[in-house]
Amino acid sequence: MAELTALRFEQHHSGLGVQCSSPRISWTFSAVDESISDWQQLQYEICVRRETGTPLYFVIQSPDSSLVPWPSTPLQSREQAQVRVRVCGSWMDRNTRRAHSGWSAWSSWATVECSLLSAQDWIAVPISSPIVPLSHEDESLRPLLFRKTFELPATFDSVQRARLYITAFGVYRAYLNGCRIGDHEMSPGWTSYRYRIAYQVFDVTSLITTKGSNVLSIEVAEGWYAGRLGFDGGKRHIYGDRIAVMAQLEIDGLAGGRFKVASDISWKFHPSPIVNSEIYNGETYDARVEGENWNQQCPSNVDTDWETVSVLDFPRARLYAPNAPPVRITEILAPQKISTTPSGRIILDFGQNLVGKLLVRSMTLPVDGTVNFIHAEVIEDDGELGTRPLRGAKCVDKVISSGQPLIDWSPKFTFHGFRFVGIDGWDPRSEKKSWKSNIQALVIHTDFKQTGQFECSNIAINQLHQNACWSMRGNFLSIPTDCPQRDERLGWTGDIQIFGPSATFLYDVVGMLSEWMEDVACEQSDHNGVPPLVIPNILDHVWPSIPQALWGDVVIILPWVLYLSSGDRDILHRQYSSMTSWLDQGVRRGRDGLWDPEIWQLGDWLDPQAPPDEPGDCRTNGTLVADAYLVYVTSLMAKIAFVLKREGEGTHYSYKAQCLRALFQEKYITSSGLIVGDSQTAYSLAIVFGLLSTQLQLDTARCQLSARVRMAKFRVSTGFAGTPVILKALTETDNLSLAYRMLLEDRCPSWLYPITMGATTIWERWDSMLPNGSINPGQMTSFNHYALGSVVNWLHETVGGLRALEAGWKTALVSPQPGGSLTYASVSYESVYGHWSCRWKLQFDGDRNEAMTLCLDLIVPPNCRAVVRIQADEDGFSKLDESVGSGKHHWEIPFFPWSWPPQATAPFITNPGKHID
Ligand code: BGC
Repeated sequence: MAELTALRFEQHHSGLGVQCSSPRISWTFSAVDESISDWQQLQYEICVRRETGTPLYFVIQSPDSSLVPWPSTPLQSREQAQVRVRVCGSWMDRNTRRAHSGWSAWSSWATVECSLLSAQDWIAVPISSPIVPLSHEDESLRPLLFRKTFELPATFDSVQRARLYITAFGVYRAYLNGCRIGDHEMSPGWTSYRYRIAYQVFDVTSLITTKGSNVLSIEVAEGWYAGRLGFDGGKRHIYGDRIAVMAQLEIDGLAGGRFKVASDISWKFHPSPIVNSEIYNGETYDARVEGENWNQQCPSNVDTDWETVSVLDFPRARLYAPNAPPVRITEILAPQKISTTPSGRIILDFGQNLVGKLLVRSMTLPVDGTVNFIHAEVIEDDGELGTRPLRGAKCVDKVISSGQPLIDWSPKFTFHGFRFVGIDGWDPRSEKKSWKSNIQALVIHTDFKQTGQFECSNIAINQLHQNACWSMRGNFLSIPTDCPQRDERLGWTGDIQIFGPSATFLYDVVGMLSEWMEDVACEQSDHNGVPPLVIPNILDHVWPSIPQALWGDVVIILPWVLYLSSGDRDILHRQYSSMTSWLDQGVRRGRDGLWDPEIWQLGDWLDPQAPPDEPGDCRTNGTLVADAYLVYVTSLMAKIAFVLKREGEGTHYSYKAQCLRALFQEKYITSSGLIVGDSQTAYSLAIVFGLLSTQLQLDTARCQLSARVRMAKFRVSTGFAGTPVILKALTETDNLSLAYRMLLEDRCPSWLYPITMGATTIWERWDSMLPNGSINPGQMTSFNHYALGSVVNWLHETVGGLRALEAGWKTALVSPQPGGSLTYASVSYESVYGHWSCRWKLQFDGDRNEAMTLCLDLIVPPNCRAVVRIQADEDGFSKLDESVGSGKHHWEIPFFPWSWPPQATAPFITNPGKHID
C-alpha cells in the first residue's frame, strides 16, 4: 500500500504564513512495498480540522494528488487548520499477479496557517530614524537598531500562540527578549519593492514571557533597498533613502483575547555598532560602540542614548508572505589551507568557491585593532588575491576591536562569492584555538530542497555536475542572479531562462521562481510589454527599455518550464498576460513580423571567439538567434493557450508560429538546408526548435553540424544561445558519439577545461582562467555563473535518461543513451508524486567493442507511469519500448556500442587535435 508523506499547501515551504484563503493541497507517496506494482490513486479523502468545530471529511473521486482544490470554506487571515489525507488506490501484487484495491492509512496531520490576507490587517507602520540623508551623499546608510518594551495584560497568564509579521525597507534581524527570531539571512529578500514587498511570519510563542517586561528589538541595514546596486559605480537609494522596519507582533492568550505590539511612533532607535553594511562592499563592525545587551530587557544606555523613531508612509506596494523558502545558512565549511602570499598577506583557502560569509569563533586584538577580511574567488598567477574581477565591489568585511576578545563574529547583512580570504591585521594562528576550527565559511542561499541527483563513471563529469549545483546554490540568493561576487549580482533574465530546466530538476525552485516571475510581470507592465533585462529592475537609468530575445523570452519559457516540473497550471494562468504582452507589444518586429533587424541583439552572447572586451561580438547573427527564438516562443505560446483551454488564442498563436517558421526558412535557410552563418549555434537552434522542413534540409543540417563540431576539434564554439542546445541537437540528429566526444573534451574552450584548472563552480567564460593560470583580461570574468552549466540538463535527460513527459512528472520518459567511454550513470528526481530513479550500467562480456549487456534499474513512484525507450545499438536492432506503472523494474538487454571515438577533421596544415579513448 502507498504511504503518504509531506503534505504541502500551494508551493509553500512550511505551511506557516500562506498568502491564500483556499490553499491547494498536495501529497507525496513514499516508496512502496516491493511486491506492489502499478499503484494508482482512485479517490482521496481529506480531513480538515478547523480551530473551531469538528473535523470535516471530504471524499473526492480523483486520481489527482498534486495541488488539489481546498475542499472546505475559505480560511480567514491568521486562521489555522489541521489537514490529513488518505487515499484509495488499486495495484497489482507482483507475487500473485492479482489486482487489489484499498485505502491507505491517514497521513500525519499537517498544519496550514494563513498570513495577513488583507492590507487592513496591518496596524504596524514603517519606522525609521528621523535623520534624512542629504541627496548628494554617496555613502552607505548606517544600520539602525529599533526596540520596544511591553508587558502583557494580567489576563494573559498563558499564551496560546504568538506570531511576528515583519518586513523592512532594507534587510533585518529580529530578537525577542534577546533571542534571535528565526534563522533567516537577508530577509525579507529582494523583490521589485515598488510593486511587491515580502514579509515573514514567525512563530514566537516560546519566546514570550507573561511575567514582567518583554522587548522586541530589530536591527536593519540598507540591503538591496537603499544600498548601491549595479555596475559602473551603480546607484544608491533606488527604492528609497530611509531604512525602516515594519513589525507586528500578535499574541493570543489561552483564555482568549489578542494583544498586539506594532511598530509605531512609540518605538526607540539607536545607530548600530555595525557602522556600515553593503552588499557589494561588505560590512564594518565597530565593537567599541556595541551597546551592552541592546536587544535585552535592560540595556545600560536605553534611557539616555535611544531616540524616538519617525514614522514613514505605509507602503503602496503589495505586501505578501512568500511561498519561497527563506535564505539560510545551509552548510558550514572549514578552511583547507593557510598560507602567506609573496606580498606578505595571510590567505585562507576553503577549497570550494562558495557564496556566504565568514564566522570567526574568537579573535583577540588590542583595543582599536582593525582586521580586514578580503574575499576573492581566485588567486592571480603572481600568488596574490584575484580581486580585479570584482570590479566595483570591495568585498571586504572589517572588525574594529574594543580590546575584549570577540566571540562568534560574522557579518550580518552582506554576502560574498569567494574561495579565498585574505586577512590583514590578524593572524588566526595566534589564537589558542586552531585556525581550522576557529574560522568557518557559512554557505548561504535560498534554502530549497535538493530534488535531482546525477552520477556517472567519469569523475570529471561528476565534478562538472557538482560545480553546476554549487553555482546554482550561489546564485539563488533570494532571486536568480548572474553571479554572486562582482558589482552585479542581478536577476539577469537570460541567464535563468537558459538554466531553468536544469534548475527545476536540481532543486525545488518552483515557489521561488514563480514568485520572481510575478515581479517580472509587474516590471514589464511599466515598459509596454518589454521585460527589463534584470528583475528587480535597477538598470532603468542605464538601459530604460531594450527588447531582447532570449532574455525577454523568459516570460514565456520559464513559466512553461515551471509548469512542466510542477504541473501547476496556475503559474501559466497568472503569467498569461505577461506572455501575450511580450509577443503582441514588446517584441520589436520588422515589416515581415520577425524581429526588427535594426535592433542589436545580445544573441549568442559570450561566443568563445568574441574578444574578451567584446562579449557580444558573436559569429552567429544576433537577429537569426532572436528569430529562431521567436518561432519557438510563439509555438510555446500556442501550447500554453491550449493547456489553459483558450482554444481560439491557441489556434491564433499556432498559425502565427507556422507563418514565422516559414518566414525564418525563407530568410535564413537554403532549400538544401544550409543556414546563414553556417555556425554550430545556428544549426543547433534550427534542429532543436524544429525549423527545418524537408528531409534534405534535415540531412544537410545534420552533416553541417557534425562537420562544424569535428572542425572545432570538439571544443565549444557556442555562447549563451547555442551552448544549452548543442548536445541536444547532436543527439537528435543521430550524432550521439559527437555529443559525448564534445562533453569529454578538456582543452579550452570546453566543459571540462575548467575542471582541469581546479574549478569548483561554473565559470562565466570558458577561459575565465587562461591556461597559463592568469585571469582573463575581460571586464566580465566571473568564476560563478550558472548559465554555461545548463549542459547538466543533457546529463539528466540523455546520459541519465530521465525527463518529464507530462507536466508534473505524472508520466516520464526513461530513455538513457549510453555513449562515449561511460560505463554507468544514475539519475534520480524527487517529483511531486515521489521518487524517480534510473540507473544503467554496461556489463562487459569480453572485449570493449564486442556486445555488452545494458542493465537498467528503474523506480517509478506510485500514481505515475514511465515510457521506457532504449535503443541499444546504432541501427535500432536492439531496443526496448514499453510503458510501465509504479514500482521497481529491471531489464537486461544486449548492447552494441556506437563507434568511438569519432575523429576530428584536421586540414592537413593543422594538428589533428587530441586523441581520446
Ligand atoms: C551578466 C550576464 C548577462 C549579461 C547580458 C552580464 O554582465 O553577468 O550573465 O546575461 O551581462 O548583457
